[in-house]
Formats: sequence, C-alpha cells, structure tokens
Amino acid sequence: MHLVEWAKSMARERLAESLPRRWRHVQQVARRSETLATRLGDDAELLVVSAWLHDIGYAPELAEVGFHPLDGARFLRAGEHDERLCGLVAFHSSALAEAEALDLADQLAAEFDDERTLTRDLLWFADMTTGPDGQCMSFEERMADVRDRYGPEHYVIRALEAGMAERAAAVARTEAWIESVGLAGQV
Ligand SMILES: [Fe+2]
Repeated sequence: MHLVEWAKSMARERLAESLPRRWRHVQQVARRSETLATRLGDDAELLVVSAWLHDIGYAPELAEVGFHPLDGARFLRAGEHDERLCGLVAFHSSALAEAEALDLADQLAAEFDDERTLTRDLLWFADMTTGPDGQCMSFEERMADVRDRYGPEHYVIRALEAGMAERAAAVARTEAWIESVGLAGQV
C-alpha cells in the first residue's frame, strides 16, 4: 500500500472512534502538510506520513508512559518504521520541552533523533497552526488556545514557555520558506 494511504488508515483506525476531536485535528494537519509537501521535493511523502501519525500516541491502547510523542514514536519503532518518521513524531512541536517537564527528556533524546530539518519545521508549523478541532489558526492563536485549555500547573503549560523560542523559530523559518516557494496565502 502507498505509504500515505497506510498512515492515513492507521491514524483513522487508532483515533477516529476513540478520539474524534483529535482525529479532526490530525486530518487538518495532514491537509496542511499536503499543501506544504507540493514544494518540498524528496521529503514530501515523509512529511505527509508524519502528519498523519504525529498524534498516534494519543490512542488509548498505545499509552504506556502517557506522553504521546514518546508513546507514538515507540509504537512506530516497534513496527520497524523509518527512523526519521519515528524521530519526527517523537520531537514534534517542541515535545522535548514537555518531556523535560515530565522528566522524560533523557529517554526521548536517548531513543530518538530530532533531525532539525526543514521537514521537521514544516510538521511543527502544520501542527501548531491547527486547532484542537481541526480549525485553522495562527501560531499566536494556537498558543493562546493551549494556555486557555490547561490549568497553570499542567505540564503542558509549564513546558509552553520553555519551548516557545524554538517553536517560534520553526514557525518563522517555515513562513520564510512558504514565501520563497510561492505558497503564501495557500497554506
Ligand atoms: Fe497535533
């Protein structure tokens, strides 16, 4: 089966029924990634596959440590999937800052690699400009939405500021790239 179709059906199988909001979010992240992928070249397929699978670790049956980037990446590695795919899932959207707040950063960094490429930035951008119900929003709106949804003591909030500079840098690089490849207004 085509890799993108495989990733889409895997995400649907794991998320659509148990987590319908998450599934709507994932579908929109994938749509945004598909648009970005039209100008990405060799990594186009990897970007879209990682978008479909970036939140797979939220599937209740995959929760081992209860931290979705790590649970998702371990699940994919157990299936012997591409190491780059596993790394993109493990570190998406500044997951390392959240892992630090949960005392899981050493495990994440020991097991997976944050490739720090354009492809990684584009995945972060697609995720961080898509709301929890799949609505399109700016990065600033998305960050405000996260602040609204979690209490001040939640680890997501504690990690939010710690990871903010890196998130903002990834978004800025992506926006410059979008402009340079003529996708402005289309994503
Ligand atoms: Fe996401």
